Amino acid sequence: MMASVGRMKLGSQGLEVSAQGLGCMGMSDAYGSRKPEEEMIAVIHHSINSGITFLDTSDVYGPHTNEILLGKALKEGMREKVELASKFGNIVLEEGKREIRGDPAYVRAACEASLKRLQLDCIDLYYQHRIDTRVPIEVTMGELKKLVEEGKIKYIGLSEASASTIRRAHAVHPITAVQLEWSLWSRDAEEDIIPTCRELGIGIVAYSPLGRGFLSSGPILLESFPADDRRKTHPRFQPENVEHNKRIFERISEISTRKGCTPAQLALAWVHHQGNDVCPIPGTTKIENFNQNIGALSVKLMPEEMVELESLALDVKGDRYPSLTHTWKYADTPDPSTWNGQ
Ligand code: ATR
Repeated sequence: MMASVGRMKLGSQGLEVSAQGLGCMGMSDAYGSRKPEEEMIAVIHHSINSGITFLDTSDVYGPHTNEILLGKALKEGMREKVELASKFGNIVLEEGKREIRGDPAYVRAACEASLKRLQLDCIDLYYQHRIDTRVPIEVTMGELKKLVEEGKIKYIGLSEASASTIRRAHAVHPITAVQLEWSLWSRDAEEDIIPTCRELGIGIVAYSPLGRGFLSSGPILLESFPADDRRKTHPRFQPENVEHNKRIFERISEISTRKGCTPAQLALAWVHHQGNDVCPIPGTTKIENFNQNIGALSVKLMPEEMVELESLALDVKGDRYPSLTHTWKYADTPDPSTWNGQ
């Protein structure tokens, strides 16, 4: 029998979501080319019918095709059942370069384009995907606030934002959720960002809670990487680091065998145990894995098991990304007085 999925409050503005979400990126991007549309719609519908109604996308996934997929999936009575999150401002340019934008004209145009692709009138939670360090966060927030007032978005989120940016943004309009990478092998946000969110009553959405599949499958995962899998460029997935990091997976495996659950469930349960303000959003393209991930909600961890898990993941080798330029480490923005409108 499938475990039942509880609900949780995300942030302090009234948003309620399923206690676990579904990351949809891998359906269209990052982990090999786009997956068959019908199959992905079946996964999304299965998720909604199982009570995992908090769906996570971005305009950059694909780019654009992931939102189009969700637009198709959210027909026939499905829209009303979900809390849909999308994101803007992380733009993939040709020849693999990226541009980050948070200027007001861009924010508005991006939101309107996302609404069209999603075939919706309103996005429940709209995140700035990456912080534009050329634009004062107050300026970006000013436009997002207008979008809330116009009913185009309900709640505002930030992803990969620094503590100072979160604080300044929250002073303009309440931030409902901060999305960040948080898992057994990515814990650096615990120092500053997570306490800031807690102080301000902001919900925490943990992305890549399975370490992009490494914590659930270990080194064997690398054998099945398609040619265009983005993890091939990630430091933690380089052979010399995998040789070291595989010990983390081996220990997770051993503990999960002892607990009678799977490594994926154990890694996810660790995130669930961080508090009732934390919602992990594992990504999957497979119903079988999805069902397993729901099972994490019924794995109970004792304080000593938490400590045991944490000790093993302390010495991971390799950064989270090939470059940390667009992460919270470099996400402070200029003073509002410097903004000249462009
Ligand atoms: P992201 O947030 O980047 O999607 P993640 O949630 O940490 O990262 O991990 C996603 C990866 O874990 C995907 O490669 C997914 O593969 P499938 O689409 O094949 O499922 C994999 N994954 C998800 N749940 C899993 C499970 N229960 N067992 C094994 N692998 C799983």
